Amino acid sequence: MAIQEHSPLKLEPWNDLNGKVVMVTGASAGLGREFCLDLARAGCKIIAAARRTSRLQSLCDEINELDFSVLSSALASPISPTGAVESRRAVAVELDVCGNGKSIEESVRKAWDYFGFIDTLVNNAGFRECKQFN
Ligand SMILES: NC(=O)c1ccc[n+]([C@@H]2O[C@H](COP(=O)([O-])OP(=O)(O)OC[C@H]3O[C@@H](n4cnc5c(N)ncnc54)[C@H](OP(=O)(O)O)[C@@H]3O)[C@@H](O)[C@H]2O)c1
Repeated sequence: MAIQEHSPLKLEPWNDLNGKVVMVTGASAGLGREFCLDLARAGCKIIAAARRTSRLQSLCDEINELDFSVLSSALASPISPTGAVESRRAVAVELDVCGNGKSIEESVRKAWDYFGFIDTLVNNAGFRECKQFN
């Protein structure tokens, strides 16, 4: 397949993050955690994913306690996996990106069902080893 030169940019930038559903992997620490907090402050709904669920839960609690009254539009209140109206801004999903296909699929399905859709994925999971240079 030939790659067209100078093809017009198809993706439009998001000028308004309010209400966008963003799934962030590696959300329990480091950059992923900070991405979640910043995106939430910008009005996004957050699906925080990683292996350490207690850390994810405390992050979600922190986000759900933020004051969103300054944000204009009423964000949708979709249905959670339990059938309840989902009014939280952040939910935690256990996910091991190195797990098998079935376990990843289950985690993604659960994540999807919380808000009914996912607008984007920040696939940040990983680790950074600090080595000293001599
Ligand atoms: N920090 C930097 O300066 C820097 C520079 C270049 C690139 N990066 C990249 O940016 C990403 C984040 O770096 P960081 O410094 O924020 O790392 P970090 O503080 O070590 O955090 C790593 C995150 O990834 C999660 N994670 C690790 N293995 C996972 C797995 N198998 N499944 C799901 N989640 C997993 C961890 O959560 P759990 O342990 O709870 O699963 C944790 O939330 C990494 O991919 C790193 O390579 C960072």
